[in-house]
Amino acid sequence: MNILILGSGGRESAFAWKIAQSEKCDQLFIAPGNAGTGQYGTNVNIKVTDFEAIGRFALSNAIDMVLVGPEEPLVKGIHDYFLTDEKLKTIPVIGPQQEGAQLEGSKDFSKQFMARHNIPTAASKTFTKDTLQDGLAYLATAGLPIVLKADGLAAGKGVLICTSLEEAQQELKEMLAEAKFGDASSKVVIEQFLQGIELSVFVMTDGVHYKTLPEAKDYKRIGEGDTGLNTGGMGSVSPVPFADAAFMKKVEERVTIPTVEGLRKENIPYKGFIFIGLISCEGEPYVIEYNCRMGDPETESVMPRISSDFVDLLQGVAEGNLHEKELIISDKVAATVMLVAGGYPGEYLKNKTLTGIENLRGSHAFHAGTYLDGEEIKTSGGRVLAVTSLQDNMFNALQQATADAARIYFDGMNFRKDIGFDLL
Ligand code: AMP
Ligand code: GLY
Repeated sequence: MNILILGSGGRESAFAWKIAQSEKCDQLFIAPGNAGTGQYGTNVNIKVTDFEAIGRFALSNAIDMVLVGPEEPLVKGIHDYFLTDEKLKTIPVIGPQQEGAQLEGSKDFSKQFMARHNIPTAASKTFTKDTLQDGLAYLATAGLPIVLKADGLAAGKGVLICTSLEEAQQELKEMLAEAKFGDASSKVVIEQFLQGIELSVFVMTDGVHYKTLPEAKDYKRIGEGDTGLNTGGMGSVSPVPFADAAFMKKVEERVTIPTVEGLRKENIPYKGFIFIGLISCEGEPYVIEYNCRMGDPETESVMPRISSDFVDLLQGVAEGNLHEKELIISDKVAATVMLVAGGYPGEYLKNKTLTGIENLRGSHAFHAGTYLDGEEIKTSGGRVLAVTSLQDNMFNALQQATADAARIYFDGMNFRKDIGFDLL
């Protein structure tokens, strides 16, 4: 098969690394890819939202499957674009159509979906510009802290946790009346704050059957000890000790099954990944968000733990026979430490030369925000490189990934040295 992966981050590097190992994969292309993805396939200089160019490329290169990494093309309808084109409609796209992608593209949609299917989540109410006064009044009666969520995609910045009523009311005004996040905040979900420990659960589905991939924990804050600003993710670990068999059974019964069944009952076609962002409150799972794709940097820890052929599983998703496919999960522990640019998650440094990958001793480097400048690797993104180690136990994985992270160098480089150590 010829496979095209869309995206350019660490997640897509991990997909490419895994897919390139499959005997079923003939040619692999990554659009646009980064300095590392060229090791596994051929980079193609096309933007993930340029559907026409992607379609043309797929036809002229006999692509048999398109795997969509990030949410933006899904929410904008790349799968629908393929399905409505006579020539493209036979090429399977892994990732939901626009309707299903609303699970991530609209927080209000996802909250209503959860309510319809009795899926445990925080209590919430949605407000618009027209109901701003009601929203302000609602805040006055709600407890603190309180969570405000822009309805649409806001590049990971649309969730605010407010600790005072003044702050919450001010933010609500800015989001609704002043379009703080543009169109994305034309609706705002006000949600009860849940106290607990977070977990990322990944479900692969063909729309009827599903398989639960290895779970992971993501470290979102920039600073050690989970302090400072939120980022796209500073590291990840899989498996997660508190997600034991009893907890995962609750997740499957209360969340996964009603989600997949709910989509099917509502006639929402869904072929792809459902990323369930959970909080465990005293051992009970609550959904804080759905994403219509895999997580980053979770995928960098999840892919190495899948021992079976990933392309075979993707074919199951495409063909509707996922239940006949084998998912083998390794008992080993994967830890990922993300190297980020100086200044990130604020304004950050770019175009710095990255060295040291050849010095890694027991980890794999998944490129994220990098490009090639002649022979040199240069930085381009806030999240630059994911260093992932797969080891027999958690301590060794954490220690190896952290030690190897320090073997990379670029000007202004930063990484957390405590990823996963809270789990020991
Ligand atoms: P999201 O952009 O939906 O991933 O949310 C960003 C982060 O906000 C999550 O990873 C949580 O840490 C936090 N968060 C979201 N919703 C809640 C909630 N209801 N209670 C507590 N924390 C939340
Ligand atoms: N790591 C969180 C995300 O991918 O949204």
